[in-house]
Amino acid sequence: KKYVLDLKVSSVERINERNVLIKLTDDKPFPEMLPGQFVEVRVDGSPSTFLRRPISINFLDCERNELWLLVAAIGEGTRALARLHAGDILNCVLPLGNGFTPVRRPGERVLLVGGGVGVAPLLYYGKQIREAGGDPVFLLGARTAADLAEVELFKAYGRVCITTEDGSAGEKGFVTNHSVLVSEHFDHISTCGPKPMMMAVAHYARKASIPCEASLENMMACGVGACLCCVEKTTEGNLCVCKEGPVFDTRRLLW
Ligand code: FES
Repeated sequence: KKYVLDLKVSSVERINERNVLIKLTDDKPFPEMLPGQFVEVRVDGSPSTFLRRPISINFLDCERNELWLLVAAIGEGTRALARLHAGDILNCVLPLGNGFTPVRRPGERVLLVGGGVGVAPLLYYGKQIREAGGDPVFLLGARTAADLAEVELFKAYGRVCITTEDGSAGEKGFVTNHSVLVSEHFDHISTCGPKPMMMAVAHYARKASIPCEASLENMMACGVGACLCCVEKTTEGNLCVCKEGPVFDTRRLLW
């Protein structure tokens, strides 16, 4: 079931040059949402009126009844979102899409690989894994240290490994070069971020015979099956990421 809600902005925080963290609240408790699902946000203040943007669920804070959205302000709609203020109302449709697979057994070792704003859904997913008795390790990649987001928050749920392309934080290189992939064993990998990164992670997982799923949320535009921007080739033919995903077992993708 999905809901259309007028949510109140409780805060807007600039995380780094690109990203803002928008926290939303409501009078009623939020409905159940799965890590990996997304929200369709209406952007009224933008020049093209009545525009909705799909934004993944960064975190659901049940105690404070707050829904967090980490937004990269890169387009017209998302820049309008970054200009919101506490007290503003944001109309949202939620929750949409499928989610990441929950852990199947206590002690399961899950590697969560995120790049750029794609780290967003991994925070809520990491919390769920931890609460289910799993053991999440976060592997976060960015161009530079300044592009990293929410690193301290991730540490609440598991170990955090970092790569940056310029070596300004963590190990220098790409996520697939990180030493944790050599030194430790993982039962499952989930990834979200730029497509080349996810493809590299999927290839690594395939070689290592580790089940892997990827969220292709970054391909979505309208988020509701109307624009066909998000078509991905799969073993079952062309599928709309926003309708069938955004999370896919990477063995289904023709990568
Ligand atoms: Fe428009 Fe999927 S994002 S059809």
